[in-house]
Amino acid sequence: MKLNRFYFLFFFSVLQLFSCNEKQLDITDFKANVLKSTTLSVDQKVSLLLDQMTLEEKIGQLNQYSGFWDFTGPTPEGEEVSQKIKNLKNGMVGSMLNVSGVEDVLAVQKIAVEESRLGIPLLFGFDVIHGFKTISPIPIAEAASWNLDAIQASAQVAAKEASASGINWTFAPMVDVSRDARWGRVMEGAGEDPYLGSKIARARVTGFQGDDLSSPSTIAACAKHFAGYGFVEAGRDYNTADVGTSTLHNIILPPFKAAKEAGVKTFMNSFTDLNGIPATGNTYLQRDLLKNKWNFDGFVVSDWGSISEMVTHGYAKDKKHAAQLAINAGSDMDMESHLYVTQLASLVKEGKVSEAFIEDAAARILKVKFELGLFDDPYLYCNTDRQGSIVGSKALHDSVLDIAKKSIVLLKNQTNILPLPKQGLRIAVIGALAADKTSPLGNWTLAADANSAVSLLEGLQNYKGNSIAYAKGADVAVGKVGFVSELEINTTDTSGFKEAVSLAKKSDVVIMSLGEHAMQSGEGRSRANIDLPGVQQELLETIYAVNKNIVLVLNNGRPLAVQWAAQHIPTIVEGWHLGSQSGNALAQVIYGDYNPSGKLPMSFPRSLGQVPLYYNNKNTGRPSPVNPGEVFWTHYIDQKNTPLYPFGYGLSYTKFEYDTLLVSNTYSDNKQIEVIVDVTNIGKRQGVETVQLYLKDVYASVIRPLRSLKGFEQISLQPGETKKITFTLTDNELGFYDNQGNWLVEPGSFDVFVGTDSTTEIKSTFKI
Ligand code: BGC
Repeated sequence: MKLNRFYFLFFFSVLQLFSCNEKQLDITDFKANVLKSTTLSVDQKVSLLLDQMTLEEKIGQLNQYSGFWDFTGPTPEGEEVSQKIKNLKNGMVGSMLNVSGVEDVLAVQKIAVEESRLGIPLLFGFDVIHGFKTISPIPIAEAASWNLDAIQASAQVAAKEASASGINWTFAPMVDVSRDARWGRVMEGAGEDPYLGSKIARARVTGFQGDDLSSPSTIAACAKHFAGYGFVEAGRDYNTADVGTSTLHNIILPPFKAAKEAGVKTFMNSFTDLNGIPATGNTYLQRDLLKNKWNFDGFVVSDWGSISEMVTHGYAKDKKHAAQLAINAGSDMDMESHLYVTQLASLVKEGKVSEAFIEDAAARILKVKFELGLFDDPYLYCNTDRQGSIVGSKALHDSVLDIAKKSIVLLKNQTNILPLPKQGLRIAVIGALAADKTSPLGNWTLAADANSAVSLLEGLQNYKGNSIAYAKGADVAVGKVGFVSELEINTTDTSGFKEAVSLAKKSDVVIMSLGEHAMQSGEGRSRANIDLPGVQQELLETIYAVNKNIVLVLNNGRPLAVQWAAQHIPTIVEGWHLGSQSGNALAQVIYGDYNPSGKLPMSFPRSLGQVPLYYNNKNTGRPSPVNPGEVFWTHYIDQKNTPLYPFGYGLSYTKFEYDTLLVSNTYSDNKQIEVIVDVTNIGKRQGVETVQLYLKDVYASVIRPLRSLKGFEQISLQPGETKKITFTLTDNELGFYDNQGNWLVEPGSFDVFVGTDSTTEIKSTFKI
């Protein structure tokens, strides 16, 4: 064998290792020659490190604790806290969550690095869901931008700010597809579509992780919650998920696969069961599919306490059994069940868990630590100067303003009230949310300061030409922000109506901000009613009775059923929870400094009874009545089947015209089909259009949806300008998964639709 430089160094390091037995290991030497070696590969370093670790230390890497105590302040108290610190010193902790800020992270990292035997650095995880301190729009709002570059940039900004605060791992993106607006966590995802969801998953993973994970500005990402969480029955959080194989493979799994292919370093499993097996104890999902079929080489973290919850589910007989089931099924890290650290060693000794599984899990975790650069410098993310100059900086605020305005969706502009003239108007601003400086931040903003968002009122006031007056009208919710429950919604107090009515009467235009408080969506915040909560509908109708010139700005974390508003109010803007720069973004759209370009990533129902409602439904045997007036077809007797606002829908201040589709039927030559369309801006101002392509596989061995999004392109057009868009469809777009999860491309006829939203009738056909 040729002894080149690499092999020489490798053998040298290994020899050095063997020359010191486990107890006398010279850690300084080991770190310098092995862990920091520039010639050994990460896998080699991981394996040499594992050789030095006891079973208990390997298990320690699998243990994640939450730290809700102040490290730099007074001495922590309580038995649990002192046990956690003891375990840190014993090398029995692999990661912490909820410790943030350079000072605290540094203090904890120092314990692990300087006081434990092997000094293995910790991962610091945090829910950086849509920003850290400087907040971007909630993820579903960002998805409405359909702008992958902007979404990627937003994740990059979040990574930059979080990493400057000591964090090196985010529990994001949530890539759960959901079709149920009742589920509070739809605010955290990319909506109802697997194709859009996959593109966004890739953009977010790339934004967080960049192309060099060891850079101090990038952090490891986490695709969650694997899998099926978005399909909780009746939209009730943590409920069971019972999903057929076609939906699992074609709808739920694709965004996870896209995240894996984008190189995501970690996955998180789910609280829920999938078809009777808790995701946390699900061998099919975690081992067979993720680690074996997909070749994922990162690690899987459990959700908070989800290992011990398998006992409550009725899947594990006791906590020890839960630990056994979870590790055997491929859950690598235990978030806050405290079961791996207490149970795994004896499970190995009893032969119920193979040490190889522990070693594999530890190897996966250590690998991510190496890739993050933590073995080269455990304090890489702990630079106070960086923290000072980056966190909350103007550059970050400029970035979140950019994605915020792109996330806004114009739902209705019937009488062209918008954009408003910048001078000479008397404007009434009504609604508690309009002046709120916390709610626009949205849920999952653990590190942000309350009261730090630009409110809609402030955003409007920043334009000086009009006269603006404000009346609250009614509170959305009363009680402690952060823990708003149904009971605390204001359902009775209309005492502010009078003032609002008198203001509306003497104004030219009324801007009403209505919807949900930030804490009415998110985890644990499912709703059995998805209308305007409290007395807001009454307020809207009361104001409408005295002034019909209303611009309704919706602020919400989920699709709302606002049928009355859609019928009566001339102008509706979907303003979600847009983050730190919310008010400025909305004002730019209202005054026309930004021409709205967002498109809905989730269907808005007419009424709750339609939910789950989604555009890519299958046909039935009875899609329409054979004879007029017939009752035996798939419909409601008291509601239409169609949504109030469909998936992909959103207006602009200009208009776009689509030319006929051209389809090249050349599949037999080079296995691809080209679809070409000309799009022209026929209005008077520049605008951005998202050109969408939907496919229907007319018949197949597993029924396919009536249409599925398979391509989109966002273009900016000047007035009168035309652009030619060419979509290329390959087997990746033409195929589907069968019920065993195999990809099939079946010959036959396809319908292709191109247009401005999922209801487009601009259609052509081709065969493959
Ligand atoms: C959520 C996860 C989150 C974790 C840590 C859980 O309750 O389901 O999405 O990452 O908490 O905060």
